[in-house]
Amino acid sequence: MAKIGMFWGSSTEMTSIAATEIKREFEKLGHQIDSFDIAKSGLKPIADYKNIIVGCPTWNVGELQEDWDILFDDYQKLRFDDKTGAFFGVGDQMGYSCNYLDAVGLLARPFMENGGKLVGKWSTEGYEFEESVALEGEEFLGLALDYDNQDSESEERILKWVDQIKSEFV
Ligand SMILES: Cc1cc2nc3c(=O)[nH]c(=O)nc-3n(C[C@H](O)[C@H](O)[C@H](O)COP(=O)(O)O)c2cc1C
Repeated sequence: MAKIGMFWGSSTEMTSIAATEIKREFEKLGHQIDSFDIAKSGLKPIADYKNIIVGCPTWNVGELQEDWDILFDDYQKLRFDDKTGAFFGVGDQMGYSCNYLDAVGLLARPFMENGGKLVGKWSTEGYEFEESVALEGEEFLGLALDYDNQDSESEERILKWVDQIKSEFV
């Protein structure tokens, strides 16, 4: 498998913690993964990876986290041909039930529209929310984490998701 580039933004550290765990799991399995806080890296290094992971919490009722928000116009212009991508999000399904995990939908859709192959969809079983832009049919477009309400489930969800996507990366 080609080296993975993981790009995430985080305002209060939770997505950063998830990214650290995802990186650790891939490394345990013997895969190489570089992790970038997009506040520091910007979008440019995305071009260097065939396999990418994108992480973003939802903020301000259905919005992207602020660092992603700043880069979003440029992100939408990127081409993702020949790239395989997996998305993960962090949100609060109780507090923001009508916008749970929206950021995953906001980032995953331009990726698919601009030529990327999306992997790592995730079942909605075990979650309670009203609406989400991250939904496609009965599934989320990426891993759904919720440290506000389901903290104790996060680790197991990450292990399962990493196991799922590792065989889908090229
Ligand atoms: C003002 C505010 C708005 C939020 N809006 C949403 C939202 O629309 N949807 C959602 O799923 N979570 C929402 N959240 C929850 C955050 O996504 C959650 O706290 C997350 O863990 C933050 O991730 P971070 O620490 O990586 O920034 C919101 C939280 C706050 C404080």
